[in-house]
Amino acid sequence: MTVPASPLRGRSEPVARALSALRGAGTRGSGGVLLVSGPAGIGKTALLSEIGQQAATTGLRVARSKCDAIEQVSPAAPVLAMLRAGRDPLATAGEYEQITRTVSEPLLLADRIASQLERVSAASPLLIAIDDLQWADRISRFLLRTLVSRLTGLPVVWVLAGRDDDFGPEITGHDLVRVNQIRLAPLSTSDRAT
Ligand SMILES: Nc1ncnc2c1ncn2[C@@H]1O[C@H](COP(=O)(O)OP(=O)(O)O)[C@@H](O)[C@H]1O
Ligand SMILES: [Mg+2]
Repeated sequence: MTVPASPLRGRSEPVARALSALRGAGTRGSGGVLLVSGPAGIGKTALLSEIGQQAATTGLRVARSKCDAIEQVSPAAPVLAMLRAGRDPLATAGEYEQITRTVSEPLLLADRIASQLERVSAASPLLIAIDDLQWADRISRFLLRTLVSRLTGLPVVWVLAGRDDDFGPEITGHDLVRVNQIRLAPLSTSDRAT
């Protein structure tokens, strides 16, 4: 299958960096974290979509979700939604229901989600993309940190996007996780010209 030409302007360098990180994760099964940061409107969501599409053509299973300014009232929602996203969700409706029952017990919830992702990633490398981390609720941030740490060494790549460029350490901690950071700069005038 041919990879369609990127509709994104001026982002070939970050796309190439992201895909090279993904290839490593897929072939060596080593996983990693890619952080995408930059102010509102700079192109984080567009880059996430592009990375997701290209990753899918290289055989990674892709799950996407996003944090929401309003849904902060529903703890863990962005991480749970990732399990049921897309046409080929990472959890069946039954598995999802079992997992969400533990939402009031974050430690148990983290353990259940980690087991699910371990199982799924044994069959196919995963790309998990979560957007708008600046709105992540506390439980979601706890879950991400726990999951990233626990799944280190498995073929799971996390692509996390948010406005702040310092959310990385909170999530990756001091673990031996391979972290790549992409700080998006505004497109140059020539990239923007049509
Ligand atoms: N590299 C790009 N080339 C062309 N259009 C882009 C590019 N990056 C972003 N856009 C467009 O600019 C707008 C804002 O981008 P978006 O990804 O939503 O920004 P962010 O998620 O950082 O707030 C969207 O309409 C998007 O389609
Ligand atoms: Mg966005």
